[in-house]
Amino acid sequence: MMLTKVLPILSLHALSVLACGREYVHSRIFDPHLGLQKRQETPFPPALEPNEAILLNSFDNATIESWSYYYTHGLTLAGTNKSVAQWTADRFTEFGFTASLAEYYVYLSYPVSHSLTATFANGSSFTPLLEEEPLPEDDVTSYPNRVPTFNGYSPTGNASAEYVYVGRGQKVDFERLEALNVSVEGKIALARYGGPFRGLKVKNAEDYGAIGVILFTDTDDDGNITEANGYAAYPHGPARNPTYVQRGSVEFVSTYSGDPETPGYASKFDSPRSDRSVVLPRIPSLPISWKDAQPLLQALDGHGVDGETVNRTKWLGKLNATYSTGPAPGTTISFSNVARDEVTWIWDSIGIINGTEQDEIIILGNHRDAWIIGGGSDPHSGTAVLIELAKAFGALLKTGWRPKRTIIFASWDAEEYASIGSTEWVEEYVPWLSGAAVAYLNCDQSVSGLDPDISATPELHDAVTASLKKVVYPYHGYSNLTLYDVWYGLTEGEYGVLGAGSDYVAFVHNGIPSIDTGAGQGPRDPIYHYHSTYDTFHWMSTYGDPFFVAHKAIGQHLALLVYHLSSDDIIPFNVENYGVQLTSYLNDLADLVDSENATSSVDLSPLEAAIATFNTSATALTSFISVAATEADYKAANTKLRDFSRGFVSQGGLPGREFYKHVAFAPGLDTGYAPVTFPGIWEATEGGNLSLANQWVQKSAKAIEAAARILAP
Ligand SMILES: *[C@@H]1O[C@H](CO)[C@@H](O)[C@H](O)[C@H]1NC(C)=O
Ligand SMILES: *[C@@H]1O[C@H](CO)[C@@H](O)[C@H](O)[C@H]1NC(C)=O
Ligand SMILES: *[C@@H]1O[C@H](CO)[C@@H](O)[C@H](O)[C@H]1NC(C)=O
Ligand SMILES: *[C@@H]1O[C@H](CO)[C@@H](O)[C@H](O)[C@H]1NC(C)=O
Ligand SMILES: *[C@@H]1O[C@H](CO)[C@@H](O)[C@H](O)[C@H]1NC(C)=O
Ligand SMILES: *[C@@H]1O[C@H](CO)[C@@H](O)[C@H](O)[C@H]1NC(C)=O
Ligand SMILES: *[C@@H]1O[C@H](CO)[C@@H](O)[C@H](O)[C@H]1NC(C)=O
Ligand SMILES: *[C@@H]1O[C@H](CO)[C@@H](O)[C@H](O)[C@H]1NC(C)=O
Ligand SMILES: *[C@@H]1O[C@H](CO)[C@@H](O)[C@H](O)[C@H]1NC(C)=O
Ligand SMILES: *[C@@H]1O[C@H](CO)[C@@H](O)[C@H](O)[C@H]1NC(C)=O
Ligand SMILES: *[C@@H]1O[C@H](CO)[C@@H](O)[C@H](O)[C@H]1NC(C)=O
Ligand SMILES: *[C@@H]1O[C@H](CO)[C@@H](O)[C@H](O)[C@H]1NC(C)=O
Ligand SMILES: [Zn+2]
Repeated sequence: MMLTKVLPILSLHALSVLACGREYVHSRIFDPHLGLQKRQETPFPPALEPNEAILLNSFDNATIESWSYYYTHGLTLAGTNKSVAQWTADRFTEFGFTASLAEYYVYLSYPVSHSLTATFANGSSFTPLLEEEPLPEDDVTSYPNRVPTFNGYSPTGNASAEYVYVGRGQKVDFERLEALNVSVEGKIALARYGGPFRGLKVKNAEDYGAIGVILFTDTDDDGNITEANGYAAYPHGPARNPTYVQRGSVEFVSTYSGDPETPGYASKFDSPRSDRSVVLPRIPSLPISWKDAQPLLQALDGHGVDGETVNRTKWLGKLNATYSTGPAPGTTISFSNVARDEVTWIWDSIGIINGTEQDEIIILGNHRDAWIIGGGSDPHSGTAVLIELAKAFGALLKTGWRPKRTIIFASWDAEEYASIGSTEWVEEYVPWLSGAAVAYLNCDQSVSGLDPDISATPELHDAVTASLKKVVYPYHGYSNLTLYDVWYGLTEGEYGVLGAGSDYVAFVHNGIPSIDTGAGQGPRDPIYHYHSTYDTFHWMSTYGDPFFVAHKAIGQHLALLVYHLSSDDIIPFNVENYGVQLTSYLNDLADLVDSENATSSVDLSPLEAAIATFNTSATALTSFISVAATEADYKAANTKLRDFSRGFVSQGGLPGREFYKHVAFAPGLDTGYAPVTFPGIWEATEGGNLSLANQWVQKSAKAIEAAARILAP
């Protein structure tokens, strides 16, 4: 996954004991102090229908652990390992599906070498190793073919100049620097991870004239689980290893996803190739550890404007420095990055269970490429779940069961660079998918911590909730809670909105209902080493999910969701909830328009009227469904449920980013991951372009009316 989860806002009780390793995890798992409570009236464990029981009972944490072990002990970097793709397809065949590889020919870049030296005004210099320390406890960290630290798609290049600390590198941070008369023109930008997607930090730096970017992770992102707070660092405790480095793509993800050279169409061997520079940086970048960043920050102390005075969100971190902007006269960074560009093959493994209704399909996907050897969480906690879930459906098939709708299992390649494997596949099959797809279910990091965290398009919320209510979740010290109880206790029952950052993106923006599910790092969980050589089987089996029971629970809830979406007589969508959510986004938009003093210039009433029309259709279809009794009624309802959300993408893409077509949500232009609702209107209003905002009110209203027309019985 390209996304780091943010720590949940809910503040929880502090840990009473500091402990190491399994002891730490044990205290976290079995110490019931989160104030969670039972919310369900169901018997415990929840009652299951016979097919549900076959599926859920097939899940075994020991086999999940074995899948995890296999995938995390070899190189699965995008485009490097066809045998693991074939092995995955072979599992699908073994479980009774039809399997094949879908191959695409795409642009990728691989690390060759890098260097960095800082020279200080006092004449001394500092040349960090730029490597994560190999650990005797964690086998794969010392594999000879381990992947160096690098940013995917950073161009080959050198930069040598004074440098400026730019906070999280958001546009507003650069605007603040400009207001403070600190120029980054011709300088190297030193930016903190967190907030906007890393590619947008590089883009902003480039736009402000910087010639290179150094990115680091600040221990401020680790809440209370830090060495400074007395916790030992991995592998001896739950805190971040000080040599940790976050790799990742620097593509401009909010412009489009997929192969940078084939926007909007599939990358075949002989496909025409277009200009990739639209979404790729021109200046080089390198990621470093907090340990290596600290002396760089300290050298700026007393130069430029100090961090307190800059006074920007998350400008100050927890390292021993004043987070001054610099530049410091005579203090320079000189770095180089050498990458190998390749147009090369990637492989999606696809497994299919034919339904009796082949014009209705459900797709379940997870990516298989990792930045490093390992990927205990990202992506192979998801891969292990995908394979175990396929095994469970294999068990159900053996009883003679067949789904009503076709089910497709997909193991995508090259997600990490720009959701490439999934986007190219969608682009190849979009005529078929637009006609037949009912839903896409994504499971990337199924486990990077213990707090369930789920985002979904609105019509899926109720079906997801129903699946959560039937699964036992043995964490947080409770032996009698369901996944629903824990999820609800942590989120107050709020589903997230899908932005960008994983393989659902091409589905959402072709109007296909989608969900992204998993359990993420909570405030008391061990630090998850995102995109690092420490995201390994050893970390997962020692700290992340030592008994693979969170994997099991996430897999079970997804299995139930796949089962009901594929097999219920009527697709279990709550379309009325779409009207509820659209209205809530409308209210947020009205607040924004108000805060921009634009109420008299931006007229939201056409949008409100369109949502009211949608509500009427949704209510009418819901009434129709409540009395539907014949196969013909079911088919009529299912066709509407399958097709209505195509209306939301019917008005063309957002300004300057045609790829993003859903009028209700998209990744923010300057966030990259985090979603913006009614993005066309929102971003035009924020940008002060009120005529564009009004134009997008019209387009958004038309799209919602189109969805309403398809939905009306
Ligand atoms: C491919 O990945 C698998 C699973 O991680 C591993 O067993 C195998 O050694 C890898 N092959 C290559 C050529 O790296
Ligand atoms: C860039 O830096 C590398 C490593 O220091 C060096 O070998 C190379 O000659 C440099 N290239 C240019 C164009 O300066
Ligand atoms: C920035 O420079 C301008 C022009 O020299 C000056 O008017 C302004 O006061 C300076 N602002 C700050 C915050 O130093
Ligand atoms: C961190 O610990 C402090 C002091 O014990 C506590 O007040 C705070 O809520 C904790 N923060 C988190 C995110 O758990
Ligand atoms: C020189 O300055 C750097 C950056 O402030 C500092 O880390 C280093 O310790 C200093 N070296 C000496 C010899 O003072
Ligand atoms: C920082 O900015 C906020 C508004 O963004 C303001 O309320 C606050 O007073 C500022 N703090 C300082 C120390 O300037
Ligand atoms: C922080 O750095 C200063 C010098 O830059 C040093 O005197 C101080 O001991 C350091 N503090 C810690 C907690 O390391
Ligand atoms: C599944 O359906 C497809 C398309 O109708 C057909 O080509 C294929 O042979 C079927 N596979 C099986 C195993 O029945
Ligand atoms: C469920 O667990 C909670 C917390 O441990 C406990 O208070 C409650 O009595 C338990 N309920 C049942 C029915 O076991
Ligand atoms: C599976 O989970 C049980 C607890 O439910 C645990 O006792 C067992 O050790 C786990 N097995 C593995 C392989 O982690
Ligand atoms: C909106 O108007 C208020 C009051 O006149 C003013 O304080 C505020 O700065 C204005 N906001 C914008 C974004 O123009
Ligand atoms: C749409 O219907 C929901 C209830 O289903 C309601 O909460 C919302 O206010 C309605 N929105 C509009 C614009 O009528
Ligand atoms: Zn991932």
